[in-house]
Amino acid sequence: MNNGIPNHVAIIMDGNGRWATKQGKKRTDGHYAGYKRLKKTALYILSKGVKYLSVFAFSTENFGRSSEEVGYLMDLFVKAFKKERTFFKDNNIKVLFSGRKKPLSDDVLKIIDIIQEDTKDCSGGVFNVCLNYGAQAEIVDATKKIAQLYKEDKISLDDIDTNTYYHYLYNDLPPVDLMIRTSGEIRISNFMLYSLSYAELYFTSTCFPDFDEKEFDKALEDYQNRNITKGKIK
Ligand code: FPP
Repeated sequence: MNNGIPNHVAIIMDGNGRWATKQGKKRTDGHYAGYKRLKKTALYILSKGVKYLSVFAFSTENFGRSSEEVGYLMDLFVKAFKKERTFFKDNNIKVLFSGRKKPLSDDVLKIIDIIQEDTKDCSGGVFNVCLNYGAQAEIVDATKKIAQLYKEDKISLDDIDTNTYYHYLYNDLPPVDLMIRTSGEIRISNFMLYSLSYAELYFTSTCFPDFDEKEFDKALEDYQNRNITKGKIK
């Protein structure tokens, strides 16, 4: 059996804090290491022929962490995206962000707009960064968009089905084929609930800063050998 290359891969990048603590470092050092790892692993995944890569960079619940950690992460997003502006264009990667705008700072919102605008014509793969993201909120927001369009007579109820519903999510992306979660936690944690419906799930005890090319190859091999039925014949 070989299921080929998954079209859409999604990653819950978990374990930055534990990775750092194990080495006697600060949790924030783990996030920095996660960012460095993400740059290399993301490029590798897209170079394998994966067309869409979604990553969980910050959940709405993450705002409940210490102000030091939240501040560090927000600052890292701004600095990293400013620094990597040319990286995405040079590698022909289109960057998208999924999540609610509130309560992100103007600095974060500004760099999000810049990167999306900068890379909107790139065609070598899509990198979807889930930032201030929650999947239940995404479904609620999509439903509100649909209700508003219906109220304005711009759609009819027959226009909405399980396929067209994707158009109303934060970004209109195809369903996820392979979802990876690092660090040994076996949960979905409110990540891409609609799009994960038929995804293959892969859990590894490796913490995200160690999730390198070889680790992705293991996940890919596992995926390729699965009996994927999507509810049809086995
Ligand atoms: C979860 O690990 C990870 C996060 C909340 C942040 C993920 C962010 C990155 C990998 C940096 C990405 C950078 C850019 C520029 C997109 P955790 O802190 O929950 O780890 P723990 O469970 O061990 O505490």
